[in-house]
Amino acid sequence: MPSASIQAVADADAWARAELEAVESALQQWVPEDAPAGLGLAMRYGVLDGGKRLRPLLVLAACQAVTGERTAALRAAVAVELIHAYSLVHDDMPCMDNDVLRRGKPTVHVRYGQAQAMLAGDAMQALAFEVLTPDTGMAPALQARLTSLLARAAGHAGMAGGQAIDLASIGRSLSEEQLRDMHRRKTGALLQASVLMGAACGATSAAAWQGLSDYGAAIGIAFQVVDDILDVTQASETLGKTAGKDLDHNKPTYVSVMGLDTARRTAEALRLQAHQALDASGLGAAAGLLAVLADKVVEREN
Ligand code: IPE
Ligand code: IPE
Ligand code: MG
Ligand code: MG
Ligand code: MG
Repeated sequence: MPSASIQAVADADAWARAELEAVESALQQWVPEDAPAGLGLAMRYGVLDGGKRLRPLLVLAACQAVTGERTAALRAAVAVELIHAYSLVHDDMPCMDNDVLRRGKPTVHVRYGQAQAMLAGDAMQALAFEVLTPDTGMAPALQARLTSLLARAAGHAGMAGGQAIDLASIGRSLSEEQLRDMHRRKTGALLQASVLMGAACGATSAAAWQGLSDYGAAIGIAFQVVDDILDVTQASETLGKTAGKDLDHNKPTYVSVMGLDTARRTAEALRLQAHQALDASGLGAAAGLLAVLADKVVEREN
């Protein structure tokens, strides 16, 4: 099983602590308190104070791997977290997964009502693209590239399409190929886009871009396979969301379709693929943070 050295993990942890502070403070600044009729409060409730912020960390680690433009990457990090947080607000609504607990707190619709939750999600999605398109200080070509990567990953071909498949699959058994396609879209696309948005903030060789793309695809699917595993192996207190709900809602997952052991082996195989993709990228030691993040995706407990 490939894994980074103890020193590399310690360095990555110190890096992540500093970057998480930067991301938190950027989100604090961007998500408005004063949006009309309490909308800002619902938005801030859904975005701030919680979340592992894995997607922002992937953006920033990929940017560092290609010595990219950090200011642009921080905007991309905020934008992808806004899309992710919006997807969670909607995912939890009664018309979707009907969940009452998220990030250790009552879900947005429980706290603010369904209409406000829907609007908060809508406004978070629009804000993500506002963050990526400032009037000054960022090259128009980079704005367009980041916007394109994020829009494609969030929309019908990515997250929203995957969520549609998820809901249409309740009570059905999917083949491994169908399961992988659903996971690639609903979760993998946004994680892969996080890596590519970071990479787009710098210059990359064709091999580096391909390697990072393959890395993002592998950890993206691995992330949802592990989410399926944690749903059955962890308690709600650890997860900060309701455990055991996939079975309750009759959702086909890697665990329900293939069993826990095969799901774990799949996650390991994807971790190996992610490391191999980094090796093929030619980025060498510059990709060290990404290597540690791949391990964390698979080893995480919440
Ligand atoms: C949860 O994502 C939803 C999935 C895509 C599986 P995370 O586990 O990254 O949730 P937060 O952001 O840490 O709350
Ligand atoms: C959600 O998948 C993926 C999203 C696009 C939000 P899940 O429905 O399994 O996520 P959790 O378990 O509620 O976080
Ligand atoms: Mg769901
Ligand atoms: Mg859910
Ligand atoms: Mg889940």
